[in-house]
Parts: sequence; structure tokens; C-alpha cells
Amino acid sequence: MPQKIIIDTDPGQDDAVAILLALASPEIEVLGIVAVAGNVPLPLTEANARKIVELSGQSVPVFAGCDRPLARDLVTAEHVHGKTGLDGTDLPDPTVPLQPQDGVDFIIDTLRREPAGTVTLVPIGPLTNIATAFRRAPDIIPKVQRIVLMGGAYFEVGNITPAAEFNIYVDPEAAAEVFAAGAPLVVVPLDVTHKALTSRAWVDQMRDLPNRCGPAVAGWTDFFERFDTAKYGSLGAPLHDPCTIAWLLEPDLFQGRQINIEVETEGRWTTGMTVADWWRVSGRAANALFLKDVDRDGLFGLISDRIARLP
Ligand code: BDR
Ligand code: CA
Repeated sequence: MPQKIIIDTDPGQDDAVAILLALASPEIEVLGIVAVAGNVPLPLTEANARKIVELSGQSVPVFAGCDRPLARDLVTAEHVHGKTGLDGTDLPDPTVPLQPQDGVDFIIDTLRREPAGTVTLVPIGPLTNIATAFRRAPDIIPKVQRIVLMGGAYFEVGNITPAAEFNIYVDPEAAAEVFAAGAPLVVVPLDVTHKALTSRAWVDQMRDLPNRCGPAVAGWTDFFERFDTAKYGSLGAPLHDPCTIAWLLEPDLFQGRQINIEVETEGRWTTGMTVADWWRVSGRAANALFLKDVDRDGLFGLISDRIARLP
């Protein structure tokens, strides 16, 4: 039986690769994709999600969720992802329709309908939709199999501020609620994803694939790379979000620890920081599996194998 998931996303070039990786993998059944405001505003993220589904040749419903964080103004990241959020590969306007149902209600209805413990949530943007679903329908929380999210950082600290990673920083109140909800949690932080850097050879391999998805991935990662190269001096684009799907497919590619993580919502300089008790000094109960390392060759081998299966 394939693993049933809902992807909650703000595409985003790396979100796009994550979505393609999931849609290309028979071990995973994507029940739906819910867009959230994040890298760019919601009208763009939902349209981008539909473009990506269309590119994949699969049929998966796409919904729009929340257009702003729970308690703050939206912060976006066009400086990383470009004006469209998906710069680097031009895709046609999608014919895949936007579902009329509210994305948060889709999450709630799906979790209520499916047997308890069979649906995994994969948030790869700010956690606004998930927190809103949990507020609106707390009865769904015990039904969640697990949440596998990209967000946070500890040893690597921040990317949008010195202390905070983007997805958590955009909606720290939502993140704090999700981390405290009690659902099993797997956290893929920058500590992992800054090791998941594309190589020139891998991007060339993508571009040379005899399908349309491979060259699309190459265009996106080329665009995405220039920002990190300028900022960190590193070569390669970090494939943050695909690490969540890769963990579902091959968890042994990753190493981490079961620890306590708290989200700072009131810090003067540290709002959005994930305070990860890696050394277990706080005495607070563990609430997440915090990943720290990844087998880079294994990860990129997995992604290229799967992208090659798509049209
Ligand atoms: C995260 O923020 C976004 O820019 C990426 O898509 C990823 O989800 C990395 O900090
Ligand atoms: Ca994202």
C-alpha cells in the first residue's frame, strides 16, 4: 500500500522538485496539494502548484489555503525564488483547475475520512495551513500519522534572519502550535538541506534527460543556485524541500535524534528560531525527530532516478 500524503507548499523551485519526486514515486500516493502563502503570495503559489502538476502529467487536486500568516504580515522571498516564485523554467499557464474547496478544509476532511494513522502531512512552506486546520478541527490531530516538514535550523542557524529559517520565521505562531500539537514530527532543517547541494554534473544529467521534467529541474536549480553561491560562496543549489519526500522514501539516507524543539515567538532578535535541544540539556520531553545529516550521493541518486521516470 502506498504511503498517503498531503503536500502543503509554497512553490518555490525546491518545492517543485519535491512535488515531482513524490509524484514520480509509486511508494507514495499524493492525495492533494495545498498551497500556502510563503515564498511568494498565494495567487502565485497555487498557480505554480498547478503548473508543476501539469508538467508531471499526473492528476492530483490542487487547493488554495491561507493567504497570510496567523498573526503577522506576510514576508516573501522573491530575492531567492524570483518574481514568479518559480523563475528559471517557464511553464505555460496551467489547465489543471484550482479546486473550489478551501485547502484547510480539504486537509480536515481528508484526515476525518481516512483511517487514523494513515495520512502523513508534508509541509514544505510556512505552517499556516496546518496550524489553522488544527485550530479549526482539533479532532484531526490524533489521526495524523506524522508530519514531515522542512523548516528550522540549529547548528546552521538562520537563512532569513541570523537566527531563523524562512518557513518558521514567516509564521512562528503557526510553527509553535504545530510543534506543540503532539503529532509525531520529523523535522528537516537547514542543517540537513545545506548538505543537499546540487553538483554541476547532476544538473547536467537532469538537463540531458530525454523528458520534459529533467530539463525543467535543471532550469530551476540553475536559477536557485545563483542566490546561494552569492550568499554562502558555495557551489550548488540546496534542495531543501525534496529531503522531506526522500526521507519518506529512504529514511536510512538521513541521521538525526529524537529531541525537544521549541519555536521562539517573542525573541527580540530570534523570532522564528527553532531551539533544538540536540544535547538534551533542557529536560523537556522530545517532540520531534530532528535530522542533521544526509547521504548526499544517495539522495541525488534517488532524485535523478525518479525524475527520469516522469514525462
Ligand atoms: C525553505 O524556504 C523556502 O525558500 C524554500 O522553498 C524552503 O522551503 C528554506 O528555508
Ligand atoms: Ca518551500
